Amino acid sequence: MTWYIELGKAADTLVNYILKVKKGEDVLIYGDDVLDDAVLKATAASVKSAGGTPTIVIYETREISFSEPPKPLAAAMMDSDVTVEFSAKAILYTQAQTNALKRNRAYICLTSLDREAMVRTIGWVNYPKMAELGDKLAEITNKAEEIKITSPSGTDFSAKIGGRKFENFGGTADKRKVIMLGGQTGGSPIEKTENGVLAFDGNVWPPDEIKSNIRTPIKCKVEKGIITDISGGSEADILRRYLASFKDPNMYRIAHVCYGYHPLARVTGDISEVERVWGCFQVGWGTQGPLLRPDLAGSYGWRAASHDDGIILKASIYLDGDPVQKDGKFVQPELLEIIKEMGVEQ
Ligand SMILES: [Fe+2]
Repeated sequence: MTWYIELGKAADTLVNYILKVKKGEDVLIYGDDVLDDAVLKATAASVKSAGGTPTIVIYETREISFSEPPKPLAAAMMDSDVTVEFSAKAILYTQAQTNALKRNRAYICLTSLDREAMVRTIGWVNYPKMAELGDKLAEITNKAEEIKITSPSGTDFSAKIGGRKFENFGGTADKRKVIMLGGQTGGSPIEKTENGVLAFDGNVWPPDEIKSNIRTPIKCKVEKGIITDISGGSEADILRRYLASFKDPNMYRIAHVCYGYHPLARVTGDISEVERVWGCFQVGWGTQGPLLRPDLAGSYGWRAASHDDGIILKASIYLDGDPVQKDGKFVQPELLEIIKEMGVEQ
């Protein structure tokens, strides 16, 4: 029975500042039955205080992440004004969620966030300043032609941005409908220009077996936007077997890349948190949902059996040769100004 007091504050920030819940709105809060249900209850209490009507749905834990939810949940999603996802097995990018977005005012994905992570990543951080940093990262990236990444784990990867828009996936409901936990800005470079090696040392999820326990970096060779080889130690063997099990070529296609800049995010097994670790570089493959392709106006880049995310720690990132960050520390002057105001010691 810990963290309830701080959790209330984090839930208030989520409901009032991030989601801007209004009087009379129906707010659906859902999760599968492996999650920490304290986050559901705290969020529901804050919705009630804000004058909204909270509904909590808990459903069976699906075997495969990013697969369609049970029909009653899909129906409930269609009838809510605001939808809050805590499910450990995310249903982001599913058809049910895509349909619901046509009706919802706002949706936030907080996959697998437990109470302690919610306190730290929502309650304790300077959310407005972190959003400013994310907006600036998007702005400078959208002016560039090429993004290149290296890392101590052995990453050496580049891609042409080619006019594809990078966005701050965090932020607030007055600026966007689909919202992720703050501290992540990303986009989808031109797939056929994505080449090199991605060496994941922070986390790869799913499958559950790997999580953050990576002893030997998982090296994924990428050619023209497709993972063509996976090497490393036992963790690489797990990922290779996992991806092969789908028998779906689209599970090997790079779907997006992201910066991570949440000053309080830790390298944990919680994907929502570890994807945002300060100075990481994060890559997703498998389904490229509408969120990732704003240029397609609601359509998928492509569908796959699931979606996967990997994290590279202490990344160095260059835009047209100019460094944005080196070894996980931001160096670009405009970013440094904001970081100073955030009070973050890199
Ligand atoms: Fe992803």
